[in-house]
Amino acid sequence: MNMRTRVGIIGAGPAGLLLSLLLAADGIDSVVLENRSREEIESTIRAGVLEQGTVDLMEELGLGERMQREGAIHHGIELRFDGEGHRIDFSTLTNGRGITLYAQHEVVKDCVAERLKQGGPIFFNVKDVHLYNVASDQPSIQFVHEDETIELQCDFIAGCDGFHGVARSSIPEAKQKIFTRSYPFGWLGILMQAPPSSKELIYAYHERGFALVSTRSPTLQRMYIQCDPLDAIENWSDAMILEELQARLESKDNWQLKVGPVSQKSILAMRSFVIEPMQYGRLFLAGDAAHIVPPTGAKGLNLAANDIRHLAHALTLYYKRNETDLLEAYSKTCLRRVWRAEHFSWWMTSMLHRFPDDDAFQQRMQRAQLEYTVSSQAASASLAENYVGLPFGW
Ligand code: FAD
Ligand code: DHB
Repeated sequence: MNMRTRVGIIGAGPAGLLLSLLLAADGIDSVVLENRSREEIESTIRAGVLEQGTVDLMEELGLGERMQREGAIHHGIELRFDGEGHRIDFSTLTNGRGITLYAQHEVVKDCVAERLKQGGPIFFNVKDVHLYNVASDQPSIQFVHEDETIELQCDFIAGCDGFHGVARSSIPEAKQKIFTRSYPFGWLGILMQAPPSSKELIYAYHERGFALVSTRSPTLQRMYIQCDPLDAIENWSDAMILEELQARLESKDNWQLKVGPVSQKSILAMRSFVIEPMQYGRLFLAGDAAHIVPPTGAKGLNLAANDIRHLAHALTLYYKRNETDLLEAYSKTCLRRVWRAEHFSWWMTSMLHRFPDDDAFQQRMQRAQLEYTVSSQAASASLAENYVGLPFGW
């Protein structure tokens, strides 16, 4: 079967879905292809922190209502070390800006529902996705859906298929440069049925390793501990996880972790990755397909939203005024923010984790950085402005 669309979008993660909605708002048709089921993408637990720019984007698309009702606005975070908490006050340091806690799979649910309401199309459970002629002005995507092979002719292809997707490999090796770093630790993440232990997120540096307290709702909490990235989750009983959390979050005041049953647990590896450029011919990469950050700065989802805003704007100008300047500048425009986020995420990660080979000198360096960050207004402001997100177009 043959189909035709203006923009063929591979991947129904936040990047692909937001792109299809932004294009639709400007009257540009697209087709989204996703290799997992709707149920799976709507239940995979991932990020939770939305920058103001991402919140604004959801609102612009008419998706703000449930996020406002169920999400929580935070105006600071705590950095905890040596048993003492130090608040980084976003409101005063960034002119009243803050972050919203709203789970990524809720963003995905809202986007899927809206796009399907508009008539889609989103093809779920597709297989054997192949890209053709991406360097020409008639690129196409071949895929299998319900045992039928479909040839989708496009004007443009958006590779929004995450780090393990297929789109990136259509860029010839001679035309790309890869920058990467892997970290000698991972995060063990859990969901716990308990009330919040704190009004804001706690990032804890401890000699046993990093710990993070986050939240999802008044009855469901999200927490992470640094672990061996190659460890199997089966090696971690709920009791061991709780013991580790309590030890790493120790506090000299009367603060106590509120505990309850653990309902989900998994281990994720951490890496930094960037491909340059993010475009080849009529293929444009966005989100995790083009770059990965370690999660310590909560930047992954927000970077994806930023790429998409630029890509949608560039495509709109192309269709409305036949202008190609923004399409040509897409990669350069996005990479500036990507590298800022790469640095911030690497910096937060380096400051807060124990490295297997770190010596007494390295630990003194981390402590000096932590003490400076919480005691200097300039250093706190730098963390705060990066964390809440630099303005769009920075
Ligand atoms: P994705 O969300 O990965 O979406 C890509 C989509 O493409 C997926 O639905 C995938 O199924 C689909 N796909 C892949 N291959 C194909 C194909 N061949 N054909 C069709 N479809 C395909 N960030 C944070 O800020 N904080 C966190 O705590 C955090 N936790 C994370 C935990 C995990 C396990 C992972 C993997 C990532 C985490 N991230 C976190 C990063 C954040 O979730 C990502 O940056 C964000 O999902 C990027 O969105 P995306 O749309 O670019 O990619
Ligand atoms: C969450 C994830 C992060 O990577 C982070 O830095 C803060 C919070 C979360 O899942 O809630």
